[in-house]
Amino acid sequence: MENFTYHNPTRIHFGRGQIARIAGEFPQGARVLLIAGGGSIKQNGVYAQVCEALRACTVVEFFGVEANPDYDTLMKAVALARAERVEWILAVGGGSVLDGAKFVAAAVPFKGEPWDILSKGARIESALPLGTVLTLPATGSESNCAAVISRRALQEKLAFLSEHIFPRFSVLDPETTFSLSPRQVANGVGDAFCHVIEQYLTYPVHAEVQDRFAEALLKILVEIGPKTLARPNDYDLRANLVWTATWALNTAIGQGVPQDWTTHAIGHELTALYGIDHARTLALVLPSLMHVQRAQKREKLLQYAERVWGLTEGDPEARIDAAIERTRAFYESIGIKTRLSDYPEVTPGTAAAVAARLRARGASGMGERGDITPEVVEKILTLAA
Ligand code: NZQ
Ligand code: ZN
Repeated sequence: MENFTYHNPTRIHFGRGQIARIAGEFPQGARVLLIAGGGSIKQNGVYAQVCEALRACTVVEFFGVEANPDYDTLMKAVALARAERVEWILAVGGGSVLDGAKFVAAAVPFKGEPWDILSKGARIESALPLGTVLTLPATGSESNCAAVISRRALQEKLAFLSEHIFPRFSVLDPETTFSLSPRQVANGVGDAFCHVIEQYLTYPVHAEVQDRFAEALLKILVEIGPKTLARPNDYDLRANLVWTATWALNTAIGQGVPQDWTTHAIGHELTALYGIDHARTLALVLPSLMHVQRAQKREKLLQYAERVWGLTEGDPEARIDAAIERTRAFYESIGIKTRLSDYPEVTPGTAAAVAARLRARGASGMGERGDITPEVVEKILTLAA
């Protein structure tokens, strides 16, 4: 296991009725920019609870952050925040709203061109303090320091990381997620599953806590994912899904271990090109990536086969094949397709096009060993046809 310094500064308020806790998080009279999406929070009662909790604050609202938050939309929020001299940001919504709010928080005090934060990895010296009310369990954005921003005008989707954008607090009330469509619930399960896999399915480094913790999270998702879809009003199932998705990407299981974020890197290109939901792009890539990288990931694939899927019998190669098939079947069982041919909008030259886009970004060696070249990316997507 590598050395690490572990610190997660996000305070979590978890459970029913916890939105009221926001009141104690802001100084009296604080100027708060409330950032939200297309309006789901007005239909499910979340907005009313937030307004009640913010009664002692001066609130400026910005609605309209879209799924896969768009840079041009967010720059309007940056202008509003500057004009209104807001001191805090409160994001209320899913991962897109939270990520968008993180970008706004970083861009408001940023001296240069904010696009450089995404396109050139420009250093961020500070950000406005940010709190969140999460309404969609999936990304872990409520308790991590990452944000992924799209720029449709340039057909781009880029991520940035900064210690400064960790939320100061996040409210996780599972009841706020009851209004989600089955598609969004499934997306959340599938996204969280992939987050765990990408911090786990590499090579062993004797990190027992991280490994066993990751395996537990995967098993919980396999168990409760389909149940949550079948029983959408079950509070306990929903509460476990919310908490599992947070732990899948709150940086804990990734400490001191090799990681492989190639599935996400390829997935982001597919969303940039075709607008496919984030979680759905991951299911297109992951089974094929496991197959193509099976030699490099052999020991962990066998561990995954045994500990997550209970596959202990027979030839090791057959066990690996079975584990990959179980992974594919799991995504399909929650209604997420795993073949590019399931998406008519995906054109035949996609494998080469994605490889070329990643090459142009300088992503010449991805994966835990740096051996996933653009050529390997093309192979993975060709296998995903
Ligand atoms: O905009 P509204 O009206 O709120 O509707 C949203 C949106 O249409 C709706 N929704 C959210 N909560 C709801 C609800 N509808 C009814 N009831 C509720 N309680 O759901 C739709 C999708 O929301 P979105 O926020 O886009 O989904 P998700 O949470 O899956 O976020 C996806 C984004 O997060 C990024 C993705 O790339 C994508 O841009 N990611 C962020 C990460 C991070 N910050 O660490 C990591 C992830 O790997 C991911 O890349
Ligand atoms: Zn993701």
